[in-house]
Amino acid sequence: MTSQSLPQGMTRAPGTSGPHDGYMPGFGNDFETEALPGALPQGQNSPQKCSYGLYGEQLSGTAFTAPSAQNERTWCYRIRPSVKHTHRFARIDLPHWKTAPHVLDDVTSLGQYRWDPLPMPDAPLTWLTGMRTMTTAGDVNTQVGMASHVYLVTQSMRDAYFFSADGELLVVPQQGRLRFCTELGVIDVEPQEIALIPRGLVYRVEVLEGPARGFVCENYGQKFDLPGRGPIGANCMANRRDFKTPVAAFEDREVASTVTIKWCGQFHETRIGHSPLDVVAWHGNYAPWKYDLKTYCPVGAILFDHPDPSIFTVLTAPSGIEGTANIDFVLFRDRWLVAENTFRPPWYHKNIMSELMGNIYGVYDAKPKGFVPGGLSLHNCMLPHGPDLNAFERASNLKLEPEKLTETMSFMFETRFPQHLTGFAATKAGLQDDYIDCWASLDKKFDGTPGMK
Ligand SMILES: [Fe+2]
Repeated sequence: MTSQSLPQGMTRAPGTSGPHDGYMPGFGNDFETEALPGALPQGQNSPQKCSYGLYGEQLSGTAFTAPSAQNERTWCYRIRPSVKHTHRFARIDLPHWKTAPHVLDDVTSLGQYRWDPLPMPDAPLTWLTGMRTMTTAGDVNTQVGMASHVYLVTQSMRDAYFFSADGELLVVPQQGRLRFCTELGVIDVEPQEIALIPRGLVYRVEVLEGPARGFVCENYGQKFDLPGRGPIGANCMANRRDFKTPVAAFEDREVASTVTIKWCGQFHETRIGHSPLDVVAWHGNYAPWKYDLKTYCPVGAILFDHPDPSIFTVLTAPSGIEGTANIDFVLFRDRWLVAENTFRPPWYHKNIMSELMGNIYGVYDAKPKGFVPGGLSLHNCMLPHGPDLNAFERASNLKLEPEKLTETMSFMFETRFPQHLTGFAATKAGLQDDYIDCWASLDKKFDGTPGMK
């Protein structure tokens, strides 16, 4: 998508055009970009003096000693060093943004849960005041686990900036369009795209088309990566070239501003006299990106049965146990169903992993009713679930021919850790009391005699 005009006073690097207007393609690439010619040092990171009087500064996303293949850092050449972008900190309260551990005695997280879409409020809400935490898992202090949020945003952040030391944010828009003006460039996102904002990156969020609603996975742990494809080989699923990182863009604005910082679940505010989005040039591999979910190439069953839903994993964030993710981001998009003599929807299951699903648009095949765009469901650790009666009966009795699932896009944040509901999710977020009843009318068919029932 071609970008709209930039905010007044922002200067962006030239040199990209067409489908990559404003972006550089590739997942995990070592990028380099400069918004002014010659701003980026060549052949070294830290010259005695930088061009334009810029300050050189490294932003590290991994420990210095992380293995080379995982090591991520970016060198920034900026108008002021980041120490000038914070001053004294004052604690503030953002009561709806919760952080793990957040386990409440009077909230029961054991169960199968489903929520209606959160309605858009009348009051103006920004990216910070409009964040509504639904579940938390793990512990931010040990950098494991995650939180799931729904954002409701009607108002742009003005002279206000934010960064989180607690984790990276995976943003899944469901309605409206947002712009992330970050230290490393500008990302515009809309429904059916996702964006990743790295831990520690300073940004503000503007509303391009509102009101905006969507989902966020806050990842306290190791960064999201692409899953290994195994025997699938070198192609399909999410392809590296479809991830887009913004070119450098900066603003030289001297105006009273606030920077809000999330740190171990607490929020603090600091006041400065200028915009912190002052990186004129940068190079490195620790950077934000966006990805068009419509470029995800699903791979699946072509004769009988179907694989586990892990076949639809877009991104995976590892935990300390190999193959057991801190978080998997899984996409259920339109696709052909062709398997013969097969119960085609997701089968009934009970899973050690905790599954939080969201509907971006359309109808989800295992739940034709009740799980609607903007809505969420949670099937927690070892809580059984599966198709409701309508989906079961249809799939069991349908004459099986090639069928295309269309007008559907849902996703899952799946984590190895149990997810705990917030008080908001339990009492104020449109929890459907009757969700458990969707399986109530599934009959016993067994009568001791053989044959298909
Ligand atoms: Fe499931």
